[in-house]
Amino acid sequence: MRPSFYITTPLYYVNDRPHIGSAYTTLIADILAMYHRMNGDDVFFLTGTDEHGQKVQQAAEKNGINPREHCDRYAARFRELWSYFNLSNDDFIRTTEERHVRVVQSVLQKLYNEGQIYKDTYDGWYSVADELFISDKDYEEGKYRDVRRISESNYYFRMSDYQERLIRHIHEHPDFIAPENRRNEILGFLKQPLKDLCISRPKERLSWGIELPFDDQYVTYVWFDALLNYITAPGYLQDEEKFKRYWPAVHLIGKDILTTHCVYWPAMLLAAGLPLPAKIFAHGWWTSEGQKMSKSLGNFIDLETIQEHCGRVGKDMYRYYMAKEGPLQNDSDFSRERFYQTYNSDLANDFGNLVNRIFKLIGKYYEGKIPAPGEFSRDEETLKTNAEQCRNKVFAYLQELNVNALTAEILRYVSSLNRYLEVKEPWKRVKIDAAAAGTVLYAALAGLRFSAALLYPLLPEKMAEFFEMLNTGEKAGSLAEWEALPAGAQLQEMKALFPRFDLSELESPAQ
Ligand code: MSP
Repeated sequence: MRPSFYITTPLYYVNDRPHIGSAYTTLIADILAMYHRMNGDDVFFLTGTDEHGQKVQQAAEKNGINPREHCDRYAARFRELWSYFNLSNDDFIRTTEERHVRVVQSVLQKLYNEGQIYKDTYDGWYSVADELFISDKDYEEGKYRDVRRISESNYYFRMSDYQERLIRHIHEHPDFIAPENRRNEILGFLKQPLKDLCISRPKERLSWGIELPFDDQYVTYVWFDALLNYITAPGYLQDEEKFKRYWPAVHLIGKDILTTHCVYWPAMLLAAGLPLPAKIFAHGWWTSEGQKMSKSLGNFIDLETIQEHCGRVGKDMYRYYMAKEGPLQNDSDFSRERFYQTYNSDLANDFGNLVNRIFKLIGKYYEGKIPAPGEFSRDEETLKTNAEQCRNKVFAYLQELNVNALTAEILRYVSSLNRYLEVKEPWKRVKIDAAAAGTVLYAALAGLRFSAALLYPLLPEKMAEFFEMLNTGEKAGSLAEWEALPAGAQLQEMKALFPRFDLSELESPAQ
């Protein structure tokens, strides 16, 4: 049976419109999913929307519509963005769906029956804005907004019971939380005694949520509800075979939702008797033009800005840039100048030039037919071995989710092909020895085709166009063997895949 690979993005809140943060996590997950499919794995890629809770209720009230209508509108915006990017997700889950409500209520009932959920009264501080109960210390430090004193009866999950098991799991599975800085953050957090988790909200205060199956005066705390989506979608309690096939997942998240994913979620799974996630990878954040993104600073990268960039240099470049420069370990800064410069140097120059040189020469001197190679010298053999090594590294980086290194690795190989041509100068050689120049062009094209196949998840539209130009009947998205390039095949006319972008166009700001 093919190995399975289950990857998730966070479920996006429907109180805000998509922006570079949501686009980033989702495109990286898509890229990972596509590489795994290319590797022959059985992939399940999930994204969706988080639709309950106070923020959504308030946003709907503000717009003067009922919460369900509000959710439908916002969920549609996310779907639109993902279809704009041709996302390859296998499912899109909304936490208001019936299939999810059933799972949440079943898990709650099971934990309640087992005494893992109990009722208690809380007297203390509550942040309305963050929907959190906070300590006296937090209150004094003024960390939270909109804080009120409340006295309230609620239901609690015995999260504290799982502290030791969780710490042990993290130590025994060094890859469970990545990157290393996030793992250390969680181990640091777990040095303090873990408290039980309040998992309910009284309906009088909040009605937009999943009703507790054992007390109709309460709804479920939004995080306890939302996290369970990761098991709903692959079929928990509905399609056990499918569930077994895909669970556990690799969760791709941002650094701000580390504790909920690395502490609450594993504790919930342990309580439910389910295997823990395979990996939780928490990336950093994008800043914009050197500062934290904010609507008031005018540097917020929203959907319109994303589409404006894509309109200039193509959607593929946006994906490519997210992968190459995105904040995996620490934060990264999105600068328009760097974005367009990277386009020019990596795609217009390195990749584009290579295509140009090879297609032009084959067109001019070989009637557009891929020349048959003669004997390979050490240089061509090296190109071939390097190609294989490049592929091995790409798949090794894939295991670590290191898309930065993966992208740089392929580009390095593309640059080495340009250097090879500069040394061999087929444009001069062809006038003296057409057969020898043919071998050089064949080898360079074999390398180009190999790298185009590897680049497919990063630049799917452009690489599909490349394979059409190559005209060998191969479909983009499968792995290419270096020597399988068919000599004699007729190339199609060359199109400029990555026309150079004139940076002076940036003088009129995008925002
Ligand atoms: N609904 C919760 C997740 C529940 S998962 C069961 C949530 N939603 S969110 O819409 O607020 O955030 C979703 C993701 O966007 C988070 O992973 C967050 O890190 C990410 N980002 C928000 N702003 C970001 C940047 N500026 N840069 C990168 N990612 C950022 O949290």
